[in-house]
Amino acid sequence: MAYLKQQRPEKVTVPAVRASKERKERLVCLTAYDYPTARVVDEAGTDIILVGDSVGNVVLGYDTTVPVTLEEMIRHTRAVRRGVERALLVADMPYGSYHTGADDAVRAALRLVKEGGAEAVKLEGGMNRVEVVERLVREEIPVMGHIGLTPQSVNKLGGFRLQGKTAEAARRLIEDARALEAAGAFSIVLEVIPREIARLVTESVSIPTIGIGAGEFCDAQILVLHDLVGLSFSRTRPRFVRQYIDLRAQMTEAITKFAEDVRAGAYPAENESYPLPSEARAELEAEGEAVRIRLRRSALNDESKC
Ligand code: KIV
Repeated sequence: MAYLKQQRPEKVTVPAVRASKERKERLVCLTAYDYPTARVVDEAGTDIILVGDSVGNVVLGYDTTVPVTLEEMIRHTRAVRRGVERALLVADMPYGSYHTGADDAVRAALRLVKEGGAEAVKLEGGMNRVEVVERLVREEIPVMGHIGLTPQSVNKLGGFRLQGKTAEAARRLIEDARALEAAGAFSIVLEVIPREIARLVTESVSIPTIGIGAGEFCDAQILVLHDLVGLSFSRTRPRFVRQYIDLRAQMTEAITKFAEDVRAGAYPAENESYPLPSEARAELEAEGEAVRIRLRRSALNDESKC
């Protein structure tokens, strides 16, 4: 299980992520939202763990990421922090936490770093976020950018669709990426854009691009863990999701077997419960014998009175 981690034991840092592009190392990135999954994902050798605001739809049952609050992000980031040793831990800035100005953004990001234990934050947007990114970086908070399909803009975009389909949109994505790099971002997520555009963006910046639904030319790849393991309940499965295991089916099978065992009295078995230590058993048996003798005597007395 810890195979990958043993192969690459060194802690992943922000400078290491930057350097990965030059070294042509394809970093592996996944989401995690709680302690047990963080442990598994980290021990399997993942390089970057993102506490994504996708926690909203994947774990908390919201329809989108829009309702996710800063408090929710801090709580999940803290849980993940306890489970991560090697990976770089990045936390998403939720919708509304950086849209009202750079001061508010710094306040929110500092909470994710100080209370949550994040080593970097991610926020959505390109040229429109330059001031915020510059300010966060100036306050020593590393920033991962995120362009293309930006789920926090779902109401403006009208749904979760492929972005950057026109030449004009593609040019804007390249400008966005360059602006984020110039502002000090150390990496950029490219979500659901044509692979050719992702390639152009990747070649236009010196920081790593991290693709999700953006094709093979990105420097790194990220997926939502629950999609990869078959624990996602979204209505549609996007074409870029490769499911490696069907945990939902496996869990359902295990739970069904447990229910059958309980109903048939086959669970728990003797070795799945705790026997009373022999001393206490002997004491209780002796007490029980005394009680039985007392009861027998009083019954005999009652009979003789009749
Ligand atoms: O919130 C998230 O999980 C993300 C990834 C899809 C990149 O932003």
